[in-house]
Amino acid sequence: MHDTMHDTMHAPTLHTPVHMAAIIALTAASLALTACGGTATDDTAGGSTATLDGGASDGGASDGGTAEADLATANALWSEIAGYDAWPYPDGWGDVVATPGGVHGESVQLWINTLADDVISAGAGGLLPDGAIAVKEVFSDDAGAKLSSIVTMKKISGYAPDTNDWFWVKYTPDGTPEMYGDVSGCSGCHSGGQDYLLTTTW
Ligand code: HEC
Repeated sequence: MHDTMHDTMHAPTLHTPVHMAAIIALTAASLALTACGGTATDDTAGGSTATLDGGASDGGASDGGTAEADLATANALWSEIAGYDAWPYPDGWGDVVATPGGVHGESVQLWINTLADDVISAGAGGLLPDGAIAVKEVFSDDAGAKLSSIVTMKKISGYAPDTNDWFWVKYTPDGTPEMYGDVSGCSGCHSGGQDYLLTTTW
């Protein structure tokens, strides 16, 4: 009898550390979430603090390759997409399209390279081929006057098999890669689209 009382009286005390551990764990979890961003906002103020990502930690430190190799790929890709504004585009994307409150700014314009266009125009279904590229200009205004970033995705066979081998980059308007590689924030949000494209199906 005495022992039972003893146990009962001390039960709350015994539980306290467990409870506190749970609170600490929860706090850590929410801090981790905050740190990872996952926010769907782009820089609408034309600032340089865009958070359209899976966290700053994804920038350059990807799962697909070393940060150094990814940076080299991102820089090479900037050269490769030069002149993209003469590229084809999916139906309905011939001009600036307003996306008020959109995750990629207030308006956007999209182009795809011929490797992607051949498959998309043919309505061929399936996945886009190795070398397919989509490029999108992101504007902080409705009219498409204030360019805030250029985002692109290129399929590089074998690069990131879990996410259909897409290499993602977000460039500043002058072509500096801000985020690049197998960026989980990009692929995570894009995973609902056909082969990760959210603007069109084929
Ligand atoms: C929170 C969701 C979200 C995140 C995160 C996101 N995107 Fe997008 N993306 C979209 C949506 C929605 C579109 C469709 C067009 C639009 O509304 O701007 C799109 C379109 C695109 C396109 C045009 C091709 C297409 O059809 O999908 C490219 C390229 C692109 N995003 C690149 C990126 C890159 C690079 C990142 C990471 C730095 C990224 N996106 C992160 C939602 C997202």
